[in-house]
Amino acid sequence: MQPARTLEVLQDADALALEAAGRLVELVDEAIKNRGMAHIALSGGSTPKKLYQRLASAPFNRAIDWSKVHLYFADERFVPHDDPESTQRLVRETLLEGISIPRDHFHPMPTEDGDPETMAKVYANVLKAQLGQDGAGLDLALLGIGPDGHTASLFPGQVIQEGIVSVVRDSPKPPPVRLTLTLEMLRRSKNVWFLVTGSDKADVLARIFATAPDAPDALPAAKIHDREGKSLWLIDPEAATQLKSEAG
Ligand code: 6PG
Repeated sequence: MQPARTLEVLQDADALALEAAGRLVELVDEAIKNRGMAHIALSGGSTPKKLYQRLASAPFNRAIDWSKVHLYFADERFVPHDDPESTQRLVRETLLEGISIPRDHFHPMPTEDGDPETMAKVYANVLKAQLGQDGAGLDLALLGIGPDGHTASLFPGQVIQEGIVSVVRDSPKPPPVRLTLTLEMLRRSKNVWFLVTGSDKADVLARIFATAPDAPDALPAAKIHDREGKSLWLIDPEAATQLKSEAG
């Protein structure tokens, strides 16, 4: 299986959010047409915030039939739901402000009802109930990357976890304790998209694009692809500066 990283360089962060929103309309339409529902896992951080705000506003808040979408999380900081660091709070205050999605279609990672290990098991059961026993029903994993090459809460040097959801207790990106979908789970997605902006990502992006997913020195973000070995990378010019031939 040849990994196919498709790269698109957009004019700026706003153009990138618009492109991602337009592509999401198509992806959700296809999922609903073929499977009756679309299952999407969201990430935290500053990059996807523009996309969430774009999706919450016209025309995207109505261009997508949100009643047939289930929203999950690729990872979550293990903080209270109303904590400023909470990714579910980020999504509530952006995307959910502008769309009407059934309450039981919004699946935040639990971070208040027990210890991280127990909550990871709880969320794995949510995913299995919605996506099948192997969790292979995600239509899209929407991801970002850090300057160290992490994605979701999969960081360099971590032991690769089995299963669907794992606990991170020593995240180099604060806060330290997180829940994350595993590499195995993310690779079962039908689609994997990375949104990457900013000059601080330029060096790591070049390293990722120079590395095969199963190379021994592959960074976590380099390891991630969809079930067919593909991934889409939507980036801005600042993040593209170290990419020689690939930049479109
Ligand atoms: C998190 C994210 C993390 C993020 C990247 C990019 O919750 O921290 O899941 O993987 O996507 O660190 O973050 P920025 O978009 O803020 O650069």
